[in-house]
Amino acid sequence: MKNIPFNKNSILLAPMAGITDSAFRKICKKYGADVTVSEMISSKGIYYRDKKTSSLMHYTAQEEPIIIQIFGNDSECMKNAAEYINLHSTPAAVDINMGCPAPKIFQNGDGCALMKDPDKAYKIIRSVKQVSAFPVSVKFRSGIDSEHINAVEFAKMCQSAGADFITVHGRTRSQFYSGKSDIEIIKSVVSGVSIPVIANGDITDAVSAKHMLDYTGAYGIMIGRAALGNPFIFAEIKKELFNTFVPTTDIFSAAREHLMYAVENKGEFSAVREFRKHLLYYLKGINNASQLKRMSNSVITVDDCLKIFELAGKNI
Ligand SMILES: Cc1cc2nc3c(=O)[nH]c(=O)nc-3n(C[C@H](O)[C@H](O)[C@H](O)COP(=O)(O)O)c2cc1C
Repeated sequence: MKNIPFNKNSILLAPMAGITDSAFRKICKKYGADVTVSEMISSKGIYYRDKKTSSLMHYTAQEEPIIIQIFGNDSECMKNAAEYINLHSTPAAVDINMGCPAPKIFQNGDGCALMKDPDKAYKIIRSVKQVSAFPVSVKFRSGIDSEHINAVEFAKMCQSAGADFITVHGRTRSQFYSGKSDIEIIKSVVSGVSIPVIANGDITDAVSAKHMLDYTGAYGIMIGRAALGNPFIFAEIKKELFNTFVPTTDIFSAAREHLMYAVENKGEFSAVREFRKHLLYYLKGINNASQLKRMSNSVITVDDCLKIFELAGKNI
């Protein structure tokens, strides 16, 4: 598997826009994620040298191996993005987002909309593959809706366009993030192609991780929402499945580290405001947390957050 920048049975942290920034990737990597992925990065933003876009490409050695994910529906623009990455970065791979269901993205013909237009998707993958100095992957869904499940054909198309590996999330675009992820379609995709497949959707613990790997025969697995407020999920799965020990700590010490990384990157003002959503995730499952959750919505300083960690630590 020359072009796969990670081992079989690897556990990847899923890309999540607005969540998986450098700080969160560091925390997940420290606690066992084998590979991280950037938030999705607009190829148009790269083309126009947008400052915010290039900040999304920033990462440190602690997050490596990292895959940079790009999106767009114009093959020239996507090719340009791959060339930009060649010059300015050294990711383990470049991933093309063909799974995002968000209306703003979908209506623009980007993300999952490309599953409706396999010819265009093929052109994009080929263009990126032709210039990329790094392995190229594609992340997509089971299909557009229950009437249009085309993940297997789409996977074959990705393979023939030159993708080195693919990631499949077993939901349709219409499902967004609700309902169940379809493990059967992931299994069919794995059988339908010879390139490695990363399986994604509803992996929440060691049992679901093991089932996903065993049942589908996938090369690796990818975890998104279950890592929110619980970066130890990677360590927990590795211990159960592979008897690999990754040291952890108490959850609010990890949350404090996460916050400190965020402050280092973005400064206290932005980091703390952006951290409000993470606080809510970290407080999930804590007894009598309603007052702490209310407090979380208005934190403005690091000390405000530390106070919450301290109080929450007493309620575990
Ligand atoms: C808030 C949020 C943001 C997301 N952003 C992206 C993204 O930028 N790129 C992408 O390919 N998928 C994105 N996803 C989808 C996830 O990568 C993943 O496919 C999905 O959450 C299913 O996995 P899970 O059940 O483990 O959460 C996002 C999901 C969430 C919840």
